[in-house]
Order: sequence, then C-alpha cells, then structure tokens
Amino acid sequence: MSHRLAVLVSGTGRHLENLATLSTDPAADFDAEIGLVISNRPGVGALDRAARFGLRAEVLQGVEGESDEAYGRRVFDLIRAADADTVILAGFLKKLWIPEDFAGRVINIHPSLLPAFGGKGCYGARVHRAVLARGCQVTGCTVHLVDEVYDNGPILLQRWCAVHPEDTPEALAARVFEEELLALPEALRRFWRR
Ligand code: GRF
Repeated sequence: MSHRLAVLVSGTGRHLENLATLSTDPAADFDAEIGLVISNRPGVGALDRAARFGLRAEVLQGVEGESDEAYGRRVFDLIRAADADTVILAGFLKKLWIPEDFAGRVINIHPSLLPAFGGKGCYGARVHRAVLARGCQVTGCTVHLVDEVYDNGPILLQRWCAVHPEDTPEALAARVFEEELLALPEALRRFWRR
C-alpha cells in the first residue's frame, strides 16, 4: 500500500528533500508520497525546498496564548484534509499535541542515541556540543514514535557513528547527519511493514 506523508518542519529541510527525492525514485523501495508540508516558521529553507519539489506547503505559526492542544488541532485538521496517514517531524521544533486518531503514527528523528541527550531544549548543535563536552566516544541518531513527552516514545531505529577527539560540533553534526539520511527512510520502511 502506498503511504501519504505529512512532513512537519521548522528549518533547513534536508530530510524533507531526502524524502521527496526517495518518493520520486522507483528504485528507492520507498512507497510513499508527500501530501503536505507544514512549517511553523515562515521563510525557512524547508519551504524553498518544498516549492522546488512542487509540494503543497502551509505555514502554521503558533498564536500568542494558544494552547498546545489548540495548535495541534489546527495542524491535524490540515493533515486529515490532506489524507496523510503518517506524520514525520523532520526538524520540527514546536511541541506537538497529538489527537487519538494519530497516536502511534507520528515519527520524529533526533540527532543522538536516545535516551541520552534528548528532552526539551536539547536539539540541533546543542546536542552535539553536549556529546563532545561529555567525552562520548560514540553517538548517532534515533527515529522514534512521538508521545506527549519530548524525545520519549518507543524507538523504531538507531544508527551510530564514532566521535573523534578532534571533532567540532559541526563536524560531528555532519557525520551524524549522514546516518540520519539512512535511518529515517529505513525506519519508515520497517514501520510500514509491521
Ligand atoms: C536533523 O538533525 C534532525 O535530527 C533534527 O533536526 C534536524 C533537521 O534538519 N530533528 P533538516 O531541517 O532536515 O535539514
């Protein structure tokens, strides 16, 4: 069965581009199309990438004083209207309330080996700086189901890589990202096969 993705973004959109590329490559064994892109921030690179791939994209910013649930309801109204069956948080930096009909169908990718270096405020370069400061010798990425707690849901797939003594946060982020590009599509393939 072919799947329809809603991809939620806040930033540069390299994962979005990777998923869009795979979904148009018959040799990629990736049976999905992207039905909708939602960004909570206007003007981000992910929206440019969505436009380049001809993907439908919406900007849905939070409103001052709005609850997580009220924002989440607006997000999932769009997702249902787009007929998406799987929701990917690909660098989406806003807390997302998930309605019952989408429980177990929202997937996040995080750039560390969870449960280490996760949780509120632990994202992007901060993760890699914390990994280096702690002296870790391995790190990696985690694809997991999203529940109501940051970076907490059941793990679908992890990939790891070495940390080198001379690494900068940027060098480490780049090495981890190579693993992320493989981890997210592979986790989705396995998730859909379950
Ligand atoms: C990735 O490192 C991902 O693990 C994290 O946010 C980053 C998204 O990058 N959740 P991009 O916006 O896809 O380029």
